[in-house]
Amino acid sequence: MNTMTQTLENKSILLVISGGIAAYKSLELIRLLKKAGCTVRCILTKGGQQFVTPLSVSALCEHEVLTEDTYKMDHIHLSRAADAILIAPASADLLAKMANGLADDLATATLLASDKPALIAPAMNHKMWSHPATQTNIEKLKSYGHQIIGPEEGDMACGEHGIGRMSEPSEILRGIEEQIHRSSLPPFLPSSLPLQGRTALVTSGPTYEPLDPVRFIGNRSSGKQGHAIAAALAAHGASVTLITGPVTLPDPAGVTTIHVETAAEMLTACEKALPVDIAVCAAAVADWSPAEQQDHKIKKRKRGNPPDIALKENPDILKILSNHKNRPALVVGFAAETKNLIENANEKRTRKNCDWILANIVGQTTQKTFGEDRNHVYLITASTNEDWQPMSKHAIATRLTEEIANYFETKAIQDAAE
Ligand code: CTP
Repeated sequence: MNTMTQTLENKSILLVISGGIAAYKSLELIRLLKKAGCTVRCILTKGGQQFVTPLSVSALCEHEVLTEDTYKMDHIHLSRAADAILIAPASADLLAKMANGLADDLATATLLASDKPALIAPAMNHKMWSHPATQTNIEKLKSYGHQIIGPEEGDMACGEHGIGRMSEPSEILRGIEEQIHRSSLPPFLPSSLPLQGRTALVTSGPTYEPLDPVRFIGNRSSGKQGHAIAAALAAHGASVTLITGPVTLPDPAGVTTIHVETAAEMLTACEKALPVDIAVCAAAVADWSPAEQQDHKIKKRKRGNPPDIALKENPDILKILSNHKNRPALVVGFAAETKNLIENANEKRTRKNCDWILANIVGQTTQKTFGEDRNHVYLITASTNEDWQPMSKHAIATRLTEEIANYFETKAIQDAAE
C-alpha cells in the first residue's frame, strides 16, 4: 500500500450519487474507496436511482443507502461524521442547487449543512457543461472552497462528443486522497485558499504563424494541459490570466482568457500581463514563422515548382519572461524531449533561466502527449528531479499548483525569519 492510499485508511467518506449515466462508475468508486480502507456512506438522489439501484449501492458500501431524510437530523449527522464529501456524478441540476443554497432533499440539505469543502465530479452533456449558467455555478462553488475534478473530454452516452464525461474512478480516488491529505491545513474559507492574493499568467495551446491569408504554420497542441493549469491555479485562489493560441476548449471558469494567434501576439499579451507572481509557459509556441507574410494567397507556379518559404525565428517567450525586468518570482516551463530527459531538460532550464521544468519524453516508445488526456512528467528544479508517474493532465495541473503553493508558503516563512 503506498503512502497516498494509506491517507484513506479508516477515513469516513460521504458519497453523493446524483442522476446521470456516469452513476454506474460510482459503483467502481465505492469499491476502490472500500479497498483503500474507507467507510463509505452513500446518499442516492432521486435522479441517481434512475441509473443505479439502492440495493447495488448498499451492497457495495455495506451500509444502508440513504435516499430520504427518514431520521430527522440525517443531514446534520451525515455531514458531521464524514472526513470528506464526494459528489460523483454531480449533475448540472445538483450543481445549480448547491451553488444557490437550495436544500429540498437529503443530498442538498446535507451539503448545505456542511462546512467541509466537497470534491465534485461533474458529468453531463457537453453543451450543458459549457453553458454559461453551469460555468457560473462552477465558479461560485469554487469560490465557496469546493474542488472540481474533471469533467473529461470524450464520447457521450447521447452519441455526441465533447467535455462532460465524469473523471475515471481512479482519478477521483486520487483527488479525494489529495483533499484528505490537505485537510490538515486550515479550514476552508475563500480567504484561506493557498494562492489567494497571488497573480499568475499561463500560456497554452499552439501558435499559428500565417503564410498568407489562408495558410499557416502550426502544431497539434490541444491546450488541455495549459488550460487545466490555469483552472487549478484559479481554484487555489490565484488571479489568473490565460493567454492561449487557437484551441477548441472552452475558456476556464474564473480565469481571464486572452486569445491570440501568433507567437509575437502571445509575447505582447504576456508582457502586458506583467507583473505577476507566477508564470507557467505551457504553450507549444511555433519556433519559426514565415519571414514575410503575403497579403494575397500564394498561387501555384506555372512550372509546378513549390514556393521557397524563408523562415525567421520566433521570440522565446519563456526565456524572455525569465530574464525580464519584471520577472515573475516563479517561472515554470515545459520540455518535450526524445532522449536524455533529465539532462536535456535541466540544460533547457538553465539556458532559459526558468525555475522549474515539467519534462516529458516524446517519441517512438511513449504516448503522443499532444491531445491526450494523460501524460507522464518529471518535475525538474535546481535541486531535484521527481518522477510524477503517469496521470491525467488535470491531476498534473493540481499537483503543480500544490507545488507552487508550497513554494510560496516556504518562501513566506523564510522571508519572515529574515
Ligand atoms: N517556449 C516559448 N517560446 C518559444 C518556444 C518555446 O515560450 N518560442 C517555451 C514553451 O512554452 C515551453 C518551453 O519553452 O515551456 C520549452 O519548449 P520546447 O519546445 O521543449 O523547447 P525549445 O526551446 O523549442 O527547444 P528545442 O525544440 O530545441 O528542444
